Amino acid sequence: MAVPPYNPFAADCSLRYVLITGASMGIGALFAREFAKRGRHLVLVARSAEAMHMLAEELRRSCGVRVEVFPADLRNPGSPERILEFCRLRHTEVDLLINCAGLSRAGDFDDIPPGRIDEIVMVNMMAPAKLIRLFLPDMIAGKKGGIINVASLGGFQGVPGLGLYSATKSFLITLTEALHAELKKSGISVTSVCPGFTDTAIFEHSGHNRTQIRMPVCKPEVVVEAAIKGLMKNRMLVYPTLLDRVLVYSQRVASRGIAIGLAGFFAGIRSDR
Ligand SMILES: NC(=O)c1ccc[n+]([C@@H]2O[C@H](COP(=O)([O-])OP(=O)(O)OC[C@H]3O[C@@H](n4cnc5c(N)ncnc54)[C@H](OP(=O)(O)O)[C@@H]3O)[C@@H](O)[C@H]2O)c1
Repeated sequence: MAVPPYNPFAADCSLRYVLITGASMGIGALFAREFAKRGRHLVLVARSAEAMHMLAEELRRSCGVRVEVFPADLRNPGSPERILEFCRLRHTEVDLLINCAGLSRAGDFDDIPPGRIDEIVMVNMMAPAKLIRLFLPDMIAGKKGGIINVASLGGFQGVPGLGLYSATKSFLITLTEALHAELKKSGISVTSVCPGFTDTAIFEHSGHNRTQIRMPVCKPEVVVEAAIKGLMKNRMLVYPTLLDRVLVYSQRVASRGIAIGLAGFFAGIRSDR
């Protein structure tokens, strides 16, 4: 018998939790607001404990949901296991995992401090993969669940000036594709949302001068709404805006060289060479 698609707002999900990494600000905090508004309990994960406690308090008060906060640094290899342990101790059964934490570094690859490479790989690739591996068995056992991986349009080709970041987002996209197929008949939806440039503090955090970006910068609300709609239809890849979709589909007719050149042009990160 076919298993119905996962609906995070169905009555039988109301006692379970949505785990959101990168929930202290930006797109992750907006996911938290949206799910709380719609009655879902939350587990918030990021490093900024104070910001998450303030958000949690606000959401408990305004939406009447339960919100757990687990400050964790996803650069540490043991963090995913500690998050699972925390959820088990608190009896917070997670049926939706949102891998949203991410970081970047603008500039030529040889300018990235070597230690920053470990950090970007740990947060953007290792942590999401391990969290999926740790939380998936319970979803499979319950025949119900969802995973949203926040990737990027940058993951569809190398982006000059954002080389490592774009490579980590390719990883998330291909992992999503494989999982989506593996879990197709299991009742678990797996979606990767692939935004273009989005209005958050990521530009300051990564040293990317946003005034040099040569494409429209999207609102984070648009990304969150598209991701949730995509999840509910079990779409493998979600493009929040029409322009995002056009850029991805135009790659089917353009050469790789053109796609890479255009991506670098849009990002506007100047190389000193
Ligand atoms: N904004 C864009 O243009 C854009 C476009 C495409 C995709 N994305 C993706 O969207 C996601 C959210 O980004 P955003 O734009 O909302 O950026 P942001 O405002 O910089 O937020 C990044 C989030 O990741 C968390 N994070 C960073 N390092 C962490 C660490 N070591 N351990 C735990 N959490 C960590 C941050 O929390 P703490 O600092 O509190 O730890 C923060 O909550 C990222 O995966 C990003 O790659 C963004």
